[in-house]
Amino acid sequence: MAANAKINLGLRVLGKRPDGYHELRTIFQTISLADRLTISFTPADTVSVTVAGMDDVPDNLAARAAQALFGEMGIGGAVHIGIEKRIPMGAGLGGGSSDAAAVLLALPVLAGRVVPLSRLLALAAPLGSDVPFFLLGGTSLGLGRGEELYPLADFPALPGVLLAPGIHVSTPEAYRALSPTLTDPEGKKRAFEESVREPLVAPLVNDFEAVVFPQHARLVELKRRLLEHGAQQALMSGSGSAIFGLCHTKETVARVVQFEKGEGAVAISLLTRSRYRSQWNRLLQPHTQGDLWPPRSLYAQ
Ligand code: C5P
Repeated sequence: MAANAKINLGLRVLGKRPDGYHELRTIFQTISLADRLTISFTPADTVSVTVAGMDDVPDNLAARAAQALFGEMGIGGAVHIGIEKRIPMGAGLGGGSSDAAAVLLALPVLAGRVVPLSRLLALAAPLGSDVPFFLLGGTSLGLGRGEELYPLADFPALPGVLLAPGIHVSTPEAYRALSPTLTDPEGKKRAFEESVREPLVAPLVNDFEAVVFPQHARLVELKRRLLEHGAQQALMSGSGSAIFGLCHTKETVARVVQFEKGEGAVAISLLTRSRYRSQWNRLLQPHTQGDLWPPRSLYAQ
């Protein structure tokens, strides 16, 4: 199955909260780029979770998602998760979070249990701030630490370009660098609200660019080139370092991808909520009933 990446169509960090997290305003958007996952489930008395393809990540989020679900479903079983990474890691594209959400969506279906969306969201939030979003997909406002979600009307499936230059940015470190510089939360809130009212009109803003760009001049250069080649918008995603460009036409995308071949540019498109959900239902189809969300097991009593 496919676990899609996300980009942030704007990301404002308002300030540090008493719990150590930061209060955010963002628009999450699923995109066509995706990891490939296989998940197998065998009923058993005890719980066992194995992951293949991610040897370098000991505390794998997808494995933790499976463990959390077994606790919720109150059953045992053996789960094997195979992950073929296509979403660059440490790039602000939510790859690990999406893999974990994929397990939350698929495992109940395979195990023949019904876990309501509200429970899946509650299991997702402690795994990571971006995990709940992947249980919705499409376009969504993200508030709080990113887990408080308000689905928005889908943006059109705009084409774009993604540049992931292999610079790994640590999210906690990026927050630590940004935190002391934060001012004017009210002004940022107002500007963000305006940008939501007229999406994609004004240039998109990501507050992390202010702390990540000074350390990586190459990212400034990549963003500049995307705009120069004809992208309407160009922005770093999440805490970086991937940079995306949105274009009006696929011809512009093809041209930019050609220009930036040496940088490993890939063509992407925004993935609407209805496409995201129908993709999931199609993938799980032999085991699901109807087009429900979250996908519902055919074997559920
Ligand atoms: O929630 P997640 O595990 O993805 O967050 C990783 C780290 O990023 C947190 O431990 C925290 O340091 C920082 N973070 C934050 N505010 C947020 C989200 C993440 O400070 N809204």
